Amino acid sequence: MTLAERDAAVIWHPYTQMKTAGLPLAIVKGEGTLLYDDAGNSYLDAVSSWWVNLHGHSHPYIAQKISEQLTKLEHVIFAGFTHQPAVELAEGLLNILPENQKRIFYSDNGSTAVEVALKMAFQYWHNLGTPKNKIIAFRDSYHGDTFGAMSVSSRSAFTQPFNQYLFEVLFIDVPVPGQEEKCLTQLTTLAQRADVAAFIFEPLVLGTAGMVMYEPEILDKLLAICRVNSIITIADEVMTGFGRTGKLFATDYLQHQPDLFCLSKGLTGGTMALGVTTCSEPIYDAFLSEDKTKTFFHGHSYTANPIACTAGVASLELLLQPETQENITRIVEQHAAFRGQIQAHPSCKEIRQTGTILAIEFKTEATSYFSNIRDLLYNFALQNNVLLRPLGNIIYVLPPYCITAFQLEVIYAVIIKMADLIRNK
Ligand SMILES: Cc1ncc(COP(=O)(O)O)c(C=O)c1O
Repeated sequence: MTLAERDAAVIWHPYTQMKTAGLPLAIVKGEGTLLYDDAGNSYLDAVSSWWVNLHGHSHPYIAQKISEQLTKLEHVIFAGFTHQPAVELAEGLLNILPENQKRIFYSDNGSTAVEVALKMAFQYWHNLGTPKNKIIAFRDSYHGDTFGAMSVSSRSAFTQPFNQYLFEVLFIDVPVPGQEEKCLTQLTTLAQRADVAAFIFEPLVLGTAGMVMYEPEILDKLLAICRVNSIITIADEVMTGFGRTGKLFATDYLQHQPDLFCLSKGLTGGTMALGVTTCSEPIYDAFLSEDKTKTFFHGHSYTANPIACTAGVASLELLLQPETQENITRIVEQHAAFRGQIQAHPSCKEIRQTGTILAIEFKTEATSYFSNIRDLLYNFALQNNVLLRPLGNIIYVLPPYCITAFQLEVIYAVIIKMADLIRNK
């Protein structure tokens, strides 16, 4: 039996209809931007394996640091104990986050980073003696798959079986170009309510919604309204963090700074599962008390795992190297040049770019995540040795920063072939 066949007998995969999905690809090795399967084929990872990989697969520096840490300390309970990698990573993150961020809270993934942020926001108001129970969120957003994260995400086919168990959220429209005023009016009205605890948002790019993009100027205005109305602001930078938008964080494009940040994905360079929620001093202070019931009662068995934190420290070092920053600039410029090239293609409806994230929306009759066009494009890319995961009729490139100019051109060529395929259908 092949590995894929053995897998099919015992494993249930995420976001996969197991009845109709074909056998998974068995990957035996990753190196740089390439993944190798057990038949010797290689694939260009154009989506950084669900947006996590920053520096290429099996990066030797991260591997070396992890291997050293493994024989020092693999894990220790994080209540009442600490360790070097956790402290170093916290210090490193606070160095690059906006000045108002003062504390790091560890968890395991993007959803839990969001869960923690929501709980901090609710309990902040509870601890102050003025409980507030409403969150404002963007209508098409995606913040994760746990119940709190699902609650603040768009109601969709993903959440439908659970909708009745999700807490009520006040949704506003995404301020895409042309919709800014509508969104501003909606927030201004909602912000007058006395029961709003927080506003959570994906800054500049809504990933799962289809790489939907909006401008920093409008987000600044939204944050200003929240500030005036004492609404806590939560930046979910799980996808946009660590250079994806061309700056270290998407919020680096803003004048106003959010109160809380959610980070994961690129946090360890795609090596280990780790999540982080960071907060400002006033939020943290609201939990300090002689009264023990004001404690933040949240934690996970693997909170701040030393191996994961070590990967985080190593990844951060790599990210801040001039060479990586130059690579980010190069990808941004190369994407922009390709935009000019594909813009006029009759199959292209819209092309969007924020930093290293490039999205192309094709003109197709079917647009849904569940449409056959998605499968057609996905399989076509794989047959051309490129891993692209379309969101319905939207294809995007979100590569590891070590990708070469030539590899990017290979991906663009496949995208042009896809556009031709759609035109000829
Ligand atoms: C903006 C955003 N927030 C949260 C999440 C959830 O992260 P995770 O899949 O690690 O739970 C994602 C995942 O795609 C995301 O894009």
